[in-house]
Amino acid sequence: MSNNIAIVAGGTGLVGQYVLEYLLEDDDFEKVYILNRRSVGYIHHKAKEIIVDFENLSDSVNDIRPTHAYCCLGTTIKKAGSKEAFKKVDYYYALEFAEVVHRLGCENFSVVTALGTNHPSSIFYNQVKYELTQSLIRERFQILNIIQPSLLIGDRGEIRIGEKIGQKVFEWTNSLWIGPFKKYAGIEGRQVAKAMVAISKKQQHGIFKYPSDQLQKF
Ligand SMILES: NC(=O)c1ccc[n+]([C@@H]2O[C@H](COP(=O)([O-])OP(=O)(O)OC[C@H]3O[C@@H](n4cnc5c(N)ncnc54)[C@H](OP(=O)(O)O)[C@@H]3O)[C@@H](O)[C@H]2O)c1
Repeated sequence: MSNNIAIVAGGTGLVGQYVLEYLLEDDDFEKVYILNRRSVGYIHHKAKEIIVDFENLSDSVNDIRPTHAYCCLGTTIKKAGSKEAFKKVDYYYALEFAEVVHRLGCENFSVVTALGTNHPSSIFYNQVKYELTQSLIRERFQILNIIQPSLLIGDRGEIRIGEKIGQKVFEWTNSLWIGPFKKYAGIEGRQVAKAMVAISKKQQHGIFKYPSDQLQKF
């Protein structure tokens, strides 16, 4: 048993729930802190849920000394209600989480962004993810893992019609994505989480980007 301590934001989401699952069953982690805005009530001897207000994060986590941080936060413009409200979660809350855990001494940060966000974009969603990536790079973690999935497949416990149709199309056409286009194939949320946790355990320092096709290999 190793004494790694994980901290997770967005642990109630599609990817986040599986990240928790993998961390809790991994003997390399002795404690898993889960920052939620609502109580889910995890029953596991390693899990500690903390109900937080992402506007005032530092007060709630001051006593924690995480070694590994996982950001699976996110929303949609539709769900958030406006572009500004979307950016608040996908950029400001994610960055606040990064800054707070860095101040607590964490040097290993993994974040889920999205495919195609390495450059500035006229698409608002992609631009926000790009800006988050740039800000996280400036934060200078010893290890920064940027997880870039294509369309996520899996049950989120809510209905997103556009995404459901997209998922079906991706499921039907997945075998057609080959060669350099393979990274565009849809990917299961569980697979993204499995890759994210495995990647975070690598010891090499630096900034690493993992597009969908690489995530499929874990
Ligand atoms: N959907 C896709 O196909 C796709 C593709 C590529 C990348 N991504 C990105 O991958 C990441 C993870 O996606 P996902 O589908 O796993 O996300 P998800 O299922 O929508 O979960 C998002 C998480 O963020 C939390 N959250 C949302 N709004 C919040 C707020 N205002 N305050 C605090 N917490 C909030 C949610 O908490 P609650 O449960 O309390 O709401 C949940 O834990 C996101 O950044 C997403 O943009 C998605």
